[in-house]
Amino acid sequence: MSQWWRDAVIYQVYPRSFADSDGDGVGDLPGIRTRLPYLRDLGVDAVWLSPFFLSPQADAGYDVTDYRVVDPMFGTVADAEALIGDAHDLGLRVIVDLVPNHSSSEHDWFRRALADGPGSAFRKRYHFRRGVGDRPPNDWQSLFGGPAWTRLADGEWYLHLFAPEQPDFNWDHPAVADEFRSVLRFWLDLGVDGFRIDVAHGLVKGADECFDQDGVHDIYRQWRRILDEYPGERIGVAEAWAPTLDRVANYVRPDELHQAFNFRYLAADWEAGTQRQVISESIAAMAAVGAPPTWVLSSHDVPRHQTRLMRAVTGEVAGRRAEPVDPAAGLRRARAATLLMLALPGSAYLYQGEELGLPEVLDLPDSARQDPAFHRATGQDGYRDGCRVPLPWSGDAPPYGFGPGDSWLPQPPDWAGLTVAAQEGVPGSTLSLYRRALSVRRALSGDLAWLDSPPGVLAFRRGDFACIVNLGVTSVPIDGSVLLASSPVDDVLPPDTTIWRTLR
Ligand code: GLC
Repeated sequence: MSQWWRDAVIYQVYPRSFADSDGDGVGDLPGIRTRLPYLRDLGVDAVWLSPFFLSPQADAGYDVTDYRVVDPMFGTVADAEALIGDAHDLGLRVIVDLVPNHSSSEHDWFRRALADGPGSAFRKRYHFRRGVGDRPPNDWQSLFGGPAWTRLADGEWYLHLFAPEQPDFNWDHPAVADEFRSVLRFWLDLGVDGFRIDVAHGLVKGADECFDQDGVHDIYRQWRRILDEYPGERIGVAEAWAPTLDRVANYVRPDELHQAFNFRYLAADWEAGTQRQVISESIAAMAAVGAPPTWVLSSHDVPRHQTRLMRAVTGEVAGRRAEPVDPAAGLRRARAATLLMLALPGSAYLYQGEELGLPEVLDLPDSARQDPAFHRATGQDGYRDGCRVPLPWSGDAPPYGFGPGDSWLPQPPDWAGLTVAAQEGVPGSTLSLYRRALSVRRALSGDLAWLDSPPGVLAFRRGDFACIVNLGVTSVPIDGSVLLASSPVDDVLPPDTTIWRTLR
């Protein structure tokens, strides 16, 4: 068995913002198909597509009305099948996003639950309860702000850990489990190589707690058996926000899923001691269950790491507010962080556009924002639109080759230098750095061993290969020949710079 996923680089495509074929301003599956050769040339192993299923888009497709239908905004099931076929021809694997914690409020089951009233069969497939007097059944809060319960005219309340348009399924109901086993098979039969499982820690609710309940693992054991029935090592990836790395590791025990996102790494300060600790602990926690560690710096849910890292020195996952940042300094640190990440053992996740050095867009007008968290939050959380701005492919002005029409979120006027066309083949461009790094990475193998290094500097080896990162504020001397550097170096390694070299 190749165990392809153990060191795979998996590229997240956010379908509405990748490439638009029909000019409606929203990206689509045919658009993605035309750009697959770009991903092959970039050197990734697999593509994870955020949801493209039938949805009223209350949460950008994380609110699914029908799990077996492609939303017309994105195309058809035939388009999905063609995309999977093209990807396979190019040597790319395809992972789709499964949203089993909740459906859309327009899902047929939920509509029937509403129509049929209290006590009816379909209400049992979700969490409907009586309140306590005028108050909700308990004090759970929605992750998008406000109570996690919404009251109906008939007096019952229903649970939604996210937006009210995303009612949580009752996973104790056998019809729910049956339905998702069938949905898995539908997409496996169509040829997908795996699933990213949304809110994987949320499916089973306890009496007082809604996350990371032990019961979720029974579900993943069943799913693993289904995945293993299919040829070609189909995988499951957990989006599981658990309190400790050991709890995260439970999702990737040998008879459960294959990988889990490492959000602790994503949120770690850019500080040598912190980075070393999170890397070591991540490797150890996953090794204890025989799973590969994973690494991620950006996604559709957090501010882009280029912008975030400039401020995250104090531990805040920042970058949400429209404060001025120094983009050149942010890019420098982001490139150093990426080169560190790609040298680590295990599997790495890239989010579309980070290979172009895209910054978070901080000045979107409120009227353009679509993130439900932005509109519902009482605080200043939920600014997730700034990392979802459509990609710039070519040209000097919006939509920068994104498609024949506009783009659903406005692109900044100063992105001409960041397009794929502007960076392709240009030495020193961020795109060239990613391509080279992904190509060199293929030869890396073996465990990580830390090397002695001055304060503020991290150094480790994997066989003959070494990665050295300066997270401090002063330059340090280096010797030997450099394979790849995140920023120019000569005989010193400047701050916020990573190099790869060969040890002889
Ligand atoms: C996950 C998704 C996020 C979505 C939420 C609700 O965290 O990554 O985008 O809003 O689940 O489905």
